[in-house]
Amino acid sequence: MAPIVTEELPERAAPRVDSPVEQEETSEQEKPVEQEPAKREESAEKEKPIEQNKPKVRRTIDEEGGTTTATYPHYLPVWDHGEKYPPWEPFTHTEHGKDADPSFKDLLVEGSKLQHLTPTTGSEVTGVQLSKLSNAGKDQLALLVAQRKVVAFRDQDLADLPIQEALNFGVYFGRHHIHPTSGAPEGYPEIHLVYRNSNSGEFESFLANRNSSVSWHSDVTYEEQPPGTTFLIVLDTPEVGGDTAFVNHVEAYNRLSPAIKERLHGLTAVHSGFEQAESSRSRGGVVRREPVKHSHPLVRTHPATGEKALFVNGGFTRSIDGLKKEESEYLLKFLLDHIARGIDYQARVRWAPKTVVVWDNRVTSHSAIVDWVTGERRHLARITPQAERPYETPYVSEAK
Ligand SMILES: [Fe+2]
Repeated sequence: MAPIVTEELPERAAPRVDSPVEQEETSEQEKPVEQEPAKREESAEKEKPIEQNKPKVRRTIDEEGGTTTATYPHYLPVWDHGEKYPPWEPFTHTEHGKDADPSFKDLLVEGSKLQHLTPTTGSEVTGVQLSKLSNAGKDQLALLVAQRKVVAFRDQDLADLPIQEALNFGVYFGRHHIHPTSGAPEGYPEIHLVYRNSNSGEFESFLANRNSSVSWHSDVTYEEQPPGTTFLIVLDTPEVGGDTAFVNHVEAYNRLSPAIKERLHGLTAVHSGFEQAESSRSRGGVVRREPVKHSHPLVRTHPATGEKALFVNGGFTRSIDGLKKEESEYLLKFLLDHIARGIDYQARVRWAPKTVVVWDNRVTSHSAIVDWVTGERRHLARITPQAERPYETPYVSEAK
């Protein structure tokens, strides 16, 4: 199917993507340039006129005074305004969970422990070192995460390895996505950073205009091939607070009546990255790749489990193709409300040092929870392997 390339902005009140703390997705966007660093840049340019035309490079460590208490300073965000990438080319995704051994014998090795967070959604694993998994173990990881939707692995060493080794681990699951607007560790654009140093007062100003920080979204679903098995590595986290909540879109689909399920099949919705890019541009931030829109099925099938999932999210789904404006708005609002309020198919993951959370971005959405006021840093690195172009399989009648 050809991608939708209309340039129209949505008329409905789309969820904002530019607030500083609402999303894992955008929380690391470049902040507006502050006056003092700008003055320093100006004086530096006078001394070195030959560098005037060089693209700007902003480094968080410079803006924190050249020193930092971050546990992993080499992971601090850098924004290189000279960094540009061409549009993605399609690629063939290999779904490693598809033929994985469902006994998980190469993943859940002797001494490991798997505990479910809720009956349908989320698990926690101890006694497994992800970086040491065999390929069979990685296949089983993809399947386990597809089944449980999100799994927190404790006591991991991925953050302590060289960044390239962490990337080498992640690329097994798919081509690395490079985020269009985020900061990255210098030299590693494939790493997407979530970074908040809450001393700045921005949390208070954000919550002055909203009642809650909750902002459900799936990551970068505007891409033709959005991410599948996705990793978030904690680097620094508040002792209490800053959890991430996940919602299970398979269960959200399962809760619908047969009549609504059947009607949703065959419909597609527009997922847009234009607002995210505009938000970054308006702040003087980077746009490393020009934004795109793509239409994806409202109900997608997971290639490993065969499960059907609602594939809409408040971050990027803008309208339903073929429906009139009011119809699209009301149906989308119903589906997003249904997902957001389903605490009986949600799970909340608490971070701890050396935790790695793995989720299947095809069948979940998530939200950061900004609830700490202790001034502690929250710093996470995402490895984001892309997966297949979303597809649907026909509605199957549940009539007996
Ligand atoms: Fe996210």
